[in-house]
Amino acid sequence: YGDPSQKIDYVFKLVLIGDSGVGKSQILSRYARNEFSLDSKATIGVEFQTRTLVMDHKSVKAQIWDTAGQERAVTSAYYRGAVGAMLVYDVSRRQTFDHIPRWLEELRNHADKNIVIILVGNKSDLEDQRAISTEDAKGFAEKEGLFFLETSALNAVNVESAFSTVLTEIF
Ligand code: GTP
Ligand code: MG
Repeated sequence: YGDPSQKIDYVFKLVLIGDSGVGKSQILSRYARNEFSLDSKATIGVEFQTRTLVMDHKSVKAQIWDTAGQERAVTSAYYRGAVGAMLVYDVSRRQTFDHIPRWLEELRNHADKNIVIILVGNKSDLEDQRAISTEDAKGFAEKEGLFFLETSALNAVNVESAFSTVLTEIF
């Protein structure tokens, strides 16, 4: 996952948002370290992890910020300088999808207006517990002008694609 001694051409700040328990921290740990934990603890405060990648012969450092879905104290500082956002819900919990418009509003109130946003339906491995259809989520994303993917941090499905969709659009 990148040679730390290499020079960095670009640093892109991305933010993860969405309700508590949707899997933000596990998506990040899958992407940054290729690790996953089933007994993940709720995030306290703000954390970030980075991953350096090469895009078009330039080295790009993705600096990805993660915070608790529950506490809503962080706003301006969290979003400041962010060029991409991942808006995450849990495909097995309806409520987490119903809250997406609120998160989107927060994003639109606090982040740069050109921020690249992807809607992410995580836990696609829980097919038998699915509460939101792919079509409904896709329709919502199209209406709001968001990219959209369903992921599984557990099975490492589409996590790479979700980040690369955002990073490619920013780049
Ligand atoms: P907060 O920090 O409280 O905002 O939650 P979070 O969004 O960071 O959720 P977290 O990553 O801690 O994951 C919550 C729970 O969901 C943990 O038990 C994870 O193991 C589980 N989880 C995360 N991603 C997946 C997934 O893709 N599939 C399944 N089945 N479980 C997942
Ligand atoms: Mg977390």
